[in-house]
Amino acid sequence: MATSGKVIRCRAAIAWAVGKPLSVEEIEVAPPKAREVRVKIVATGICHTDEHVLEGIFPDVEFPVILGHEGAGIVESIGEGVTSVKPGDKVILFGLPHCGECSFCLNPDSNYCLKSHFSEPQNLLPDKTSRFTCKGKQIHHFVWISTFSEYTVVPEYTLAKVDAAAPLDKVCVLGCGFSTGYGAAINTAKVKPGSTCAIFGLGGVGLSAVMGCKAAGAARIIAIDINQDKFAKAKQLGATECINPRDFKKPIQQVLTEMTGHGVDYSFEVIGTADTLIAALASCNMNTGVCVMIGVTPAGSTVPIDPFLLLSGRTIKGTLLGGWKMGDAIPKLVTSYLQKKFNSDLLITHTLPFAKINEGFELLRAGKSIRSVLLY
Ligand code: APR
Ligand code: ZN
Ligand code: ZN
Repeated sequence: MATSGKVIRCRAAIAWAVGKPLSVEEIEVAPPKAREVRVKIVATGICHTDEHVLEGIFPDVEFPVILGHEGAGIVESIGEGVTSVKPGDKVILFGLPHCGECSFCLNPDSNYCLKSHFSEPQNLLPDKTSRFTCKGKQIHHFVWISTFSEYTVVPEYTLAKVDAAAPLDKVCVLGCGFSTGYGAAINTAKVKPGSTCAIFGLGGVGLSAVMGCKAAGAARIIAIDINQDKFAKAKQLGATECINPRDFKKPIQQVLTEMTGHGVDYSFEVIGTADTLIAALASCNMNTGVCVMIGVTPAGSTVPIDPFLLLSGRTIKGTLLGGWKMGDAIPKLVTSYLQKKFNSDLLITHTLPFAKINEGFELLRAGKSIRSVLLY
């Protein structure tokens, strides 16, 4: 392409500091170095994790930074040694890499990659430099992919080529929210047909867990949220019952235990607080119950757990990106989407021009949106 090898000037939403609205400004994006890819982002979702950074509760983020980690776009140019994609390919980016070479990637049971930003907390590209500048200042990257920019540069192992027929304004949510919730039910919990599930938190990720439980054949899917405006959509996606903890005097774990006899088979925490994590754990049955932690709790928080909850056999486990090895899974999930095996479009309640990114965050904070997708 004509821009290949050159610096590109484009718009990006910069987070200059915690607690400040994002500022849409012109930035310069340097060409990709070896094993890197420069992508023109077409669509990006707003996920709660971006909000956690702005609230200052996500660990180890350096400012100024370009956030965004749920994006889809078109390859503009590739650095030396890149073989998996070429300019013009449609791609989905993901914040949990899949290098295919490290010991975790080589383990069929793992989807954690040692090239993850969590293994080496830093807000630059792997060579410890940034491709972004604004007004002469270096701007940091976020979980390698920074999708709140018209153009971004990412390591090769954080994207996958998808079917050219895929509508990028829709499948962008497969980059984080949908895959995380859906995979938590299918891969992490391995929900069995006929079982009973409880989902705590009905945002984009929680509703995707509802879809995953339904796809796995759960007989009862109990959806829990303090905002009952979320219940209609939860039912549409497969919830069999919806309950609001504020409607009860008793703790929600007691309500769920009474509703089900001995507790649910699988519970999913998709809010990100210590209290709801304990409630989710205590809601699953004392022997075979599995509690999956999906929500990201504030950096440095601790969860006091009564060890007797675990002694009788309950399990608590976490999941990142729903247990998918993203490089392999994303093209297949896109094929399933095109075959209408699931309808992730129902998560997208708002589509906004990129310039309205702060409005998108306001909708999330006010509980009015499930997913807002920004179009460049
Ligand atoms: N009990 C029940 N529901 C609650 C509670 C509570 N105490 N507190 C908040 N909720 C509900 C909110 O009303 C909202 O519907 O949890 C839901 C959270 O949804 P979103 O804010 O849309 O978040 P989402 O993008 O789905 O992410 C959820 O998963 O990936 C992580 O970082 C992400 O921790 C976040 C979580
Ligand atoms: Zn996310
Ligand atoms: Zn790896």
